[in-house]
Amino acid sequence: MSKGAVLILGARSDIGRAVARRFAAEGHPVQLAARNAQALEADRADFELRYRVPVTLHEFDALATEGHAAFVEGLPALPEIAVSSVGLMGQQDESERDGAAAARVIRSNFEGPASILAELANRFEARGHGTLVGISSVAGDRGRASNYVYGSAKAGFTAFLSGLRNRLAKKGVHVVTVLPGFVATQMTEGMDLPPRLTAQPDEVAQAISTAVGWGRDVIYVRPVWRLVMMVIRFMPERIFKRTRI
Ligand SMILES: NC(=O)c1ccc[n+]([C@@H]2O[C@H](COP(=O)([O-])OP(=O)(O)OC[C@H]3O[C@@H](n4cnc5c(N)ncnc54)[C@H](OP(=O)(O)O)[C@@H]3O)[C@@H](O)[C@H]2O)c1
Repeated sequence: MSKGAVLILGARSDIGRAVARRFAAEGHPVQLAARNAQALEADRADFELRYRVPVTLHEFDALATEGHAAFVEGLPALPEIAVSSVGLMGQQDESERDGAAAARVIRSNFEGPASILAELANRFEARGHGTLVGISSVAGDRGRASNYVYGSAKAGFTAFLSGLRNRLAKKGVHVVTVLPGFVATQMTEGMDLPPRLTAQPDEVAQAISTAVGWGRDVIYVRPVWRLVMMVIRFMPERIFKRTRI
């Protein structure tokens, strides 16, 4: 039986590209959606040649929410699986000084991804099957001084995914929340990340494929992060506010 198409939103991201490659290697047709999607032409040709699956490119801007319904209608087929890899870390100090910069971070991590997944969710619900995957972040588990604008947007996205899962669980639609921990990508380039806590994009892709196949709901890519975030989440506020983590 032929496999269902996988839509990757934010397909030019390091994680998005790894996820696309993974699903293509498993035999799924792939729809790559990104800003400046033409830049993915080499990936498209490579996946088609290597994995013998159809691959299409689609121009997509997560912030152009008014066009999201038309974007979904314009796809060659409603996908079976959709993965949002869209995100923007921004600079915390810039977000503190500049409201427009903060809004861009909040909209790119929350409003935009939530808007497109909502469009897909309604169509998956009407059809009666499908899987939505949202890449959120452990940064959303508790706001910290060093990145709370990004973290709060991810917290909103995590809550959105939770509600969507709760709503659609009885409708045949599965929602996966991905909390990757640190990942070695363009987003974290130049940061001094602890190797034990840092995954590679391929690991994230493998974890997503497994979570989709097994019907898992919320995944921490490296299991150690579940423990790390439990400690951070349950730390009393009077201690937490004195920390620099
Ligand atoms: N790296 C980490 O440590 C880490 C940890 C936790 C979660 N994450 C999440 O993982 C996801 C992928 O990130 P990454 O690490 O692979 O970093 P990345 O390469 O910087 O990926 C972010 C992607 O989001 C896309 N994007 C941003 N705004 C967009 C918009 N308005 N419309 C369409 N696409 C937009 C960017 O597109 P352009 O290429 O056009 O700029 C870029 O491809 C993000 O959601 C990120 O928050 C990453």
